Amino acid sequence: MPKRMQAPKKKTAPLLKKDHALHIVDGRTLKEYTVPIQHGSIHAPDLRQIRASETDFGLLSYDPSFQNTASCKSGITFIDGNAGILRYRGYPIEELAGNRNYLEVAYLLINGRLPGKNQLAEWLHNITYHTMLHENIKKFMDDFHHDAHPMGMLVCTLAGLSTFYPEAKAIFDTDLRQRQIHRLIAKMPTIAAFAYRHSIGMAYIYPSNDLGYAENLLAMMHRPSWTTDYTPDPVLSKALDLLFVLHADHEQNCSTEAMRTVGSAHADPYTCAAAAAAALYGPLHGGANEQVIRMLKEVRTKENIPKLIRQVKAGRRLLMGFGHRIYKNRDPRAEIIKKVASDVFAVTGRNPLLDIALELEKVAISDDYFIKRHLYPNVDFYSGIIYQSMGFPVDMFPVLFAIPRMSGWLAQWQEMLLDPEQRITRPRQLYVGSRLRHIPEAEQPS
Ligand code: SDX
Repeated sequence: MPKRMQAPKKKTAPLLKKDHALHIVDGRTLKEYTVPIQHGSIHAPDLRQIRASETDFGLLSYDPSFQNTASCKSGITFIDGNAGILRYRGYPIEELAGNRNYLEVAYLLINGRLPGKNQLAEWLHNITYHTMLHENIKKFMDDFHHDAHPMGMLVCTLAGLSTFYPEAKAIFDTDLRQRQIHRLIAKMPTIAAFAYRHSIGMAYIYPSNDLGYAENLLAMMHRPSWTTDYTPDPVLSKALDLLFVLHADHEQNCSTEAMRTVGSAHADPYTCAAAAAAALYGPLHGGANEQVIRMLKEVRTKENIPKLIRQVKAGRRLLMGFGHRIYKNRDPRAEIIKKVASDVFAVTGRNPLLDIALELEKVAISDDYFIKRHLYPNVDFYSGIIYQSMGFPVDMFPVLFAIPRMSGWLAQWQEMLLDPEQRITRPRQLYVGSRLRHIPEAEQPS
């Protein structure tokens, strides 16, 4: 980790009137520059005017993994990491969760406002009538190894869908773009369910047009056969839908950045979504919920918690489900998920891993090592416990994250496409490699 920045020594600034600009003196040339401050930021290309000589390229800003760099202006999701605030299009997550279902929130993210009665009816129709997959996709999915990880199947299937809808390349045709948005949101539960059924060697169950979004997923996964009646438990469907609301978007996270970056090259939305899902698969991102359960199962009893804490503090492992780049105390989603747990356990019975998780949280948040590093439970810490109680296998957990995040990825992708300030993503670098050198004469071809 680079040495933390030393706070600049207080020195008497040159006599200036208060304004919204940085006044920079370049110590190499003693030249002065004024860089405007807007939206609490400076426009990084303004630094290029600061040169040590006429031939100098000009100053770059260096920010590995963008810890302090805004890549875009966005009106979709607002997070205040210190205050533990999360809002979708201005609505607090606490108000949306439980009062609006996932498809209403997906509409909000993509269109910027909650749907009226007619808009919702049209939206539901468009999503409902795009849930089916082309029969060739089934054949494509059948060829995966029997124990293929469902996230690997999802990433490949999303990319494969781009070959079924070549008109998706017309990304600036509004109607065609909306149709791909409908298709991607609609087909995520079907792809997820087919991947699950493939992994247990059972026939695929097709989506029903008379089931809700989360309900359909549960039915396609757990219905014994097409001829047997099966109605998912309404409490579990409602709880899953609420979890989908919580996972729908989260501003410029790793997978959204992947969606925006691939989209900036004007790739079609299926290919962009495959890249986003691939990023989400990482254990530091959406794959963490799967790792949390594996960690809690390894701990097994409260008595083993001190050993885990010691390993983490020795730097030998991460406390999965803890920490966040933006939230430096509570992740509001984790608080809401904890409350959903009691509704689910009333149906499924209490998951013993919850007691270990609660004890682990209690121990960790009172330990200076975690407090100093602002490590608190994030959205992944408790979600896996609920998914496990609902009967989902552990390797399906990142898929359950990807399903709702599709609407966030698409909202961010569309915003990027329509943003006149956005161009193809192409960051600069600080070259630290070899200087000019030549192949020795003797080794050169005669
Ligand atoms: C998601 O960005 C988003 O919004 C993501 C997300 C979304 O909705 O899209 O919220 C979803 O990805 C949630 C995060 C799920 N990941 C995990 O739970 C995996 C465990 N967490 C860590 O890998 C980590 O906290 C990250 C990746 C989440 C954040 O990493 P950062 O911001 O780069 O933090 P860092 O690595 O700079 O950590 C600062 C310090 C370091 O210690 P020092 O070098 O200062 O001594 O905290 C330590 C880290 O080693 N640290 C941890 C830790 N997380 C950070 N130590 C132990 N266990 C952890 N979990």
